[in-house]
Amino acid sequence: MLEVRPATRTDAPAMADLINAIITPGGTTAYEDPFDPAALDAEFISLPQLVSCFVAEEDGVIAGFQSLTRAFADDPLPDNWASIATFTRIGLTQRGAGSALFAQTLRAAREAGITTIDATIRADNTGGLAFYSRLGFGDYAALRAVPLKNGTPVDRIRKRFDIV
Ligand SMILES: CC(C)(COP(=O)(O)OP(=O)(O)OC[C@H]1O[C@@H](n2cnc3c(N)ncnc32)[C@H](O)[C@@H]1OP(=O)(O)O)[C@@H](O)C(=O)NCCC(=O)NCCS
Repeated sequence: MLEVRPATRTDAPAMADLINAIITPGGTTAYEDPFDPAALDAEFISLPQLVSCFVAEEDGVIAGFQSLTRAFADDPLPDNWASIATFTRIGLTQRGAGSALFAQTLRAAREAGITTIDATIRADNTGGLAFYSRLGFGDYAALRAVPLKNGTPVDRIRKRFDIV
């Protein structure tokens, strides 16, 4: 049975393992470098821009996590927007972890006064695009030819979810 709860700093090592397994083969997340627990904590759990970070746990194993953050200086967004990121453990996808996380993220967003959730997704991440579309996100912009570390240009699709 999946349980969704707020992430704590003690989850950082397990969350780092989970995301590193997604980063290493490449092709989906925009993150290209693996995280150690301190970097994971700083990026997803303990940052000042954080609105919420939840983990979905099944029998003591973290199946996925989802964070929601207000904008960073290098990518400004309108007031009361926040950006979402979701990671489900390889082997446990398409079993409801992402949507269970989103139910709690949406509640936290509402409580924080967020009006719009942005999801910025690599254009080659067909699974990620399908996931956010299924949750009700719609396209609103595209960032063209953002280079990966090796210089390969990859478009980013920006989707939004308006909280009514
Ligand atoms: C994208 C991702 C977060 C989806 O998480 P998940 O736990 O598999 O999502 P869920 O099982 O809750 O799926 C919710 C809905 O999206 C659909 N969906 C999820 N992944 C999909 C895929 N790859 N292709 C098509 N539909 C997909 C599900 O079928 C489900 O639809 P339903 O409600 O009709 O059953 C997961 O695949 C992942 O971690 N990918 C790698 C990292 C990444 O790309 N993150 C997104 C960018 S931040």
